[in-house]
Amino acid sequence: MPVMSDEKSTVDSHPGGEHSRAGTAADLSGQTESHLACEAYERRSKASEPAYIGVAKTLLADDKGLLAVDESPGTCNQRFAVFGIAQSEAARRAYRELILTAPGLVDSIGGVILHDETLHQSTKWGQAFVEVLREAGIVTGVKVDIGAKDLAMHPGEKITEGLDGLRERLNTYFRVGARFAKWRAVITIGHGLPSRASIEANAHALGRYAALCQEAGLVPVVEPEVLMEGHHSLTTCLEVTEQVLLAVFIQLDHQDVRLDGMILKPNMVLAGLDCPQQLSAEEIADVTVDCLRRTVPAAVPGIAFLSGGQPAKLASQRLSTMNRRSRSRLPWALGFSFARAIQQPALEIWRGNDANVLPAQQALLHRARCNRDACRGTYEIASDQQ
Ligand code: G3H
Repeated sequence: MPVMSDEKSTVDSHPGGEHSRAGTAADLSGQTESHLACEAYERRSKASEPAYIGVAKTLLADDKGLLAVDESPGTCNQRFAVFGIAQSEAARRAYRELILTAPGLVDSIGGVILHDETLHQSTKWGQAFVEVLREAGIVTGVKVDIGAKDLAMHPGEKITEGLDGLRERLNTYFRVGARFAKWRAVITIGHGLPSRASIEANAHALGRYAALCQEAGLVPVVEPEVLMEGHHSLTTCLEVTEQVLLAVFIQLDHQDVRLDGMILKPNMVLAGLDCPQQLSAEEIADVTVDCLRRTVPAAVPGIAFLSGGQPAKLASQRLSTMNRRSRSRLPWALGFSFARAIQQPALEIWRGNDANVLPAQQALLHRARCNRDACRGTYEIASDQQ
């Protein structure tokens, strides 16, 4: 287990010892012994807090969000194939270099989630990507699940795997420089789906993953994604999302996960892609926020939505509408942890051509800035001309 300097308390952890020292000071200042003892206790609690608690607060601070660049080689290759880009490690490295070296990314992005492959890659001039991010002031995260596999006895449903050996992998990731991690569970809506088995199995895995992350000093980003595919209504998505989030927070509690040291990465509550009745940004914003207020404890510092395949501008508009209408009454920061909704326009411009790197970076930075505006509730889709 990594040793973190700020985990070591420098004061006596026994309240009685602190109390007797406070008594001397009380004689000088006129303050009561118990008052000073309380202050000392608060100081000590803060000094002994694990570092990941501070990291969790930092990730979405200043209205910044997370950028997910953690597609597996297979998924990345599929996205490359659409534009005829070579499906090779060299092409993936070049694409990640374009993203991670975009100048000024830190203005809108607090943390970047990498795939294991990228975590070990470097720029063409030999600087490790982890070092590029550290220099830029961006926190490095890593996707640690190994993907969603078929759930036994439940056709059409998935269970995310990767718990075996996770403790060792997390310790390695911490040593390499990662300070947060991500695990994605997928829940499918369909005829009779999701099953209770799928919700419970995925929630349990998320709870165990999150506990292992905190043990290793990493902030867990907990991602239960209710998929958009299907004919289902917004109401069905709402009901399923609520059930899933309740199950997840029960499991996080069972595993003694510190809620102030994690980030929730949920889906927005949306009608299925094939549902004829699509709703306005205002309706989506209000239903999503109400769902989260009923299910997410106030101790959680931040909620960062996945985009799930929504068009980039719509994802920004919906997030902005939530913050514009509700920000002042929410206990947590409401932000983003988008992959496609930030990267897609840049990928379309780049197409594997070095000559397109600069305009592709501009497109990436534009989407990142739009989403920072969305965190402030000031993004306007009508003014977004790019
Ligand atoms: O796990 C999913 C990604 O981190 C978010 O991707 O924004 O394209 O849904 P997305």
